[in-house]
This record gives sequence, C-alpha cells and structure tokens, in this order.
Amino acid sequence: MAIRNGKSYYSFSPVGFVRKKNSYLLFFSLVIIIITFSCQKEKTPDIDNQDLSEIPFSPQEYKLETSSNYPEMNIPSDNTLTVEGISLGRSLFYDPIMSIDSTISCSSCHIHERGFKDNSALSTGIDGRVGRRSSMSLLNVGYNRSNLFWDGRQPDLESQITAPVEDPNELGHNWPALLDKLQNHHEYPVKFRKAFGIIKSTDINEALVSKAIAQFERTLVSSGNSRYDRILRGEATFTDDELQGYLMFFDVVPDLPDAECGHCHTEPFFTTFEFKNNGIEAVENLTDFIDKGRGEVTGEVLDNGKFKIPTLINVFETAPYMHDGRFSTMEEVMEHYNSGGHRQLNTDPLIRPLGLSNREVEQVLAFIKTLTDSSFLKNPDYSKP
Ligand code: HEC
Ligand code: HEC
Repeated sequence: MAIRNGKSYYSFSPVGFVRKKNSYLLFFSLVIIIITFSCQKEKTPDIDNQDLSEIPFSPQEYKLETSSNYPEMNIPSDNTLTVEGISLGRSLFYDPIMSIDSTISCSSCHIHERGFKDNSALSTGIDGRVGRRSSMSLLNVGYNRSNLFWDGRQPDLESQITAPVEDPNELGHNWPALLDKLQNHHEYPVKFRKAFGIIKSTDINEALVSKAIAQFERTLVSSGNSRYDRILRGEATFTDDELQGYLMFFDVVPDLPDAECGHCHTEPFFTTFEFKNNGIEAVENLTDFIDKGRGEVTGEVLDNGKFKIPTLINVFETAPYMHDGRFSTMEEVMEHYNSGGHRQLNTDPLIRPLGLSNREVEQVLAFIKTLTDSSFLKNPDYSKP
C-alpha cells in the first residue's frame, strides 16, 4: 500500500473528502442525540429527594423471645430492636438490590431452611465468582461474644455488613450506587422513614442500612424447641445412645472416653466463640497455612490456622463442614477428631487421638442430632417477606 512518512495517501483523495463529510454528519447527529437525551432527563421527576416528614414515625419496640437458658443479648443502645427496623432489615436481607447486578442477596448464601448457610463448601457471589470460605450460620449470631467471620475481622453486626456488600466475590456493589438505588426506590424511603424517622429520601445512608439488617439478624435466635431443649426442661428424655453420647461430648463420667467437644462447643450456644486451631490442616510450619485465618487479622504467627469455633446447633442441616467445607459429612468430622488431627505448635491440646469405638462415635452423633431445631428452620418470621 502507498504509505509515506506514516501517512496514508487517502487523506488527499476524494475518498478522504467523503470520509470527512461522514464524520461531520456523525458529529452533528451525536450532538443532537445528546441534547435530546439531556432534555428528556430534565423532564423525569426527581424523586431523589422525597419529603417524608408527613409520614408518621412511631416505631414499636420488639421483644426478643428465645430459650429460657440464654443470657440477655447485648444490643447497642443506638440500635434497639423495633418492629419497623426488623421488617426493613428483613426486606433488605432478601432483596437482590443489594448486589451490583441485582442477581443475589444476603439470602443467596445465608439460606433460612439451610440454617442460614448454603450447603456449598465455598460460597458463590455475583457472576458465579467463588469465594475462599464457606458461609456461616447466622443462628444466634446476635449473641456473638467475639468478633465476626471465621477470622474475626469485624467487631460487630453493624460494621460487618459493609464487607459482603463490597466484596467482589459476594455482592460486588459500592455504597454510593446502592444508596442511590434505595433512595430512588418506590418503597424503601417510606420504610426507612418508619424505622428511623428520616426526613428526606437522601437521608438513607450506609449506617441505617447496616442498622436495619443487624436488627433482623439479632432476631435469628434458637426457638428453644430442639429435642435437647425439651430434655433440659424435663419435657422429653434421652434415648440410651443419646445419653451415652451426651456423657462423652461433655466428658461427664470417668468410665467412658472423653470426646472433648464440650470444651470448645460449649453450652448454651455450643461454641465459646473463640478462635482455635483444631488440627484439620497438615502443614509443616505455621507460616505454611494457605488460609491463615485469625493470624491474617492479628499478624501473630501463633494465630495462623485458627478459626472461629462454629455452633453445633442444627449442624446436621448445614453440611459441608469447616471454614473451607472440607468435610462432607458428620462422620468425616468425627473421623478427624477421633484420629487426633494434625499437630502444629498451636494446635489445641484437646485435639488428640480420642480412641472412640465406632459405636461410641455413633452415640456422640446421636447426641448432636438432638440439637436440631426444626422450629428455627421453619419459623415464618425469618423467611422471604
Ligand atoms: C456470596 C455469598 C455471601 C453473601 C452474598 C453474603 N454472605 Fe455473609 N458470609 C459468607 C461467607 C463465605 C462468610 C464467611 C466469610 C469469612 O469468614 O471470611 C460469611 C459470614 C457472614 C457473617 C459472620 C457470621 C459469624 O458468626 O461470624 C455474617 C453476620 C454475615 N455473613 C451476614 C451477611 C449479610 C448481612 C449479607 C448481606 C448484606 C451477607 N452476609 C451476604 C457468604 C456470603
Ligand atoms: C479445641 C477446640 C475444639 C474441640 C475440642 C472440638 N472442636 Fe469442633 N471446631 C473447632 C473449631 C476451631 C472449628 C472450626 C475450624 C475450621 O473451620 O477451620 C470446629 C468445627 C467443627 C465443626 C464444623 C461445623 C461447621 O459449621 O462447619 C463440627 C461439626 C465440629 N467442630 C464438631 C466437633 C465435635 C463433634 C467435637 C468433639 C468430638 C469437636 N468439634 C471438638 C474447635 C473444636
């Protein structure tokens, strides 16, 4: 082709003239399109800043009902539970508006009937993106005495919500865009008014979204109707196997082997909420853990491989198990504990070969099954509104 000094000869040819003419045409049409669109935009009513002050604001206090043997829940004084706040939080929890492409919500990975987990080893967010950890049960999450997540990187429910909203492997959203959607929604401004007394729709902010969802999460408490709850109240009795399992789980009698579970999975929540290395990972050095867990947050090598002790209530409904979902069944979990797991410098001393017979393993599992709380899994107050 005839090219000199990097310039095409076409620029001096009639073809070039026609091309130039075309680009003028294109330019003017673009200008006209832009003008038309900006005029149209001006015509749409701006609901950005709805005045809500006429809508009554009189939130009703909500009384949390839970197992009689549970302590008082620690509820922040600036976010007490109200019927309107919980209802708003529940709507947001189930609404895909929370994700960037409106495809998934909190409830996609925290599924009510599955104990607020999702039955996958690793959770999947927007665009089918797979995260690095397993979802966590939200049952009794309001009673958490330590920090949230497997590694405890968030101090409380209110601050926790920022994380999944912005996590590219979860909801993948950004707050300004999400708030814009909520402020211009046909229902949310009124709901926020009723829950928090906002004056105009632009008052909807990150703190209020978080407060509402946190209120809903605090209502997710045990129903007090598991078989074990009823046995404790004297309304039912253990079978022989369940009783043997109970005695081993809590190391009650000297003539049965100790299963040690009850030291970490402690009543009434069946967790102490502490971070421990329970020996599931075979690594040579503490620096070799692929997922360092608690150590990633504290920066202490001795915390590497420690994860939060999860509850065992409803655990038969929430397979697979551990922070990475490595065990598919409770039998595999028992095999791990019975074998004594892998020993590192920071593996908890309670993790050691237990010497349980097959029969004894079955009995421990029979006891853990009594912790299944079906009323919680079917409670209509927790389902999609
Ligand atoms: C894509 C799946 C996914 C979505 C969507 C999701 N989560 Fe989670 N959630 C997880 C995973 C995985 C963890 C554990 C993460 C970790 O430890 O790093 C978790 C942990 C949590 C915890 C900590 C529980 C505890 O006991 O420490 C809370 C609370 C929680 N999520 C609430 C929410 C809320 C509220 C939303 C919506 C705003 C949400 N999640 C959206 C997967 C998800
Ligand atoms: C030293 C404390 C400790 C002891 C003792 C202990 N566990 Fe655990 N357990 C943990 C920790 C920590 C995890 C989470 C580990 C992880 O995900 O990496 C866990 C996880 C589990 C899980 C997975 C639950 C889920 O939602 O993924 C089950 C099931 C379980 N333990 C059952 C038992 C049983 C049964 C016993 C007794 C045989 C027992 N544990 C003894 C600390 C302990």
